[in-house]
Amino acid sequence: MKKHGPILIEKKPEKIFLNSIGSSELGYITVAEYQENIPFNIKRVYWTYYTPNKVTRGHHAHKALEQCIFAVNGKIEFELINVNGEKSTFILDSPEVGLYIPPMHWRTIKFSHNAVLLCLASDVYKKSDYIRDYDYFLKK
Ligand code: TYD
Repeated sequence: MKKHGPILIEKKPEKIFLNSIGSSELGYITVAEYQENIPFNIKRVYWTYYTPNKVTRGHHAHKALEQCIFAVNGKIEFELINVNGEKSTFILDSPEVGLYIPPMHWRTIKFSHNAVLLCLASDVYKKSDYIRDYDYFLKK
């Protein structure tokens, strides 16, 4: 049971819609660029792939890390929970549409097998930035 009332959440998760430059005849390019359409300096990029359909990944929150995530191929479903326990869901299935995830959002993620998740992250990898205990997360 939480001992305090709802915490004011400054930043909210939201979809970001990037331009798709090109045509069906020529193909397309989409650009993610700091300050143009990404709200933080990108210090790390990683991608995940071949995740089996039955696997759910994530199960953690980040204390300070901000991320913009894209499904450059396939379909990815996110369930996000903020520190007040409020849930939101997002589906990414288009390479020019991303999801901004602010700090302190617990995520569970499901993938189509062909999905390639591209993550732009605001910091280098720090094990200490992870919260992997859900009860501890909700008490924050
Ligand atoms: P993790 O962030 O737990 O991914 P998921 O929530 O999708 O399972 O990372 C999985 C593993 O990869 C974990 O052992 C940490 C390692 N890892 C790095 O070494 N560097 C990184 O930048 C990332 C994102 C993960």
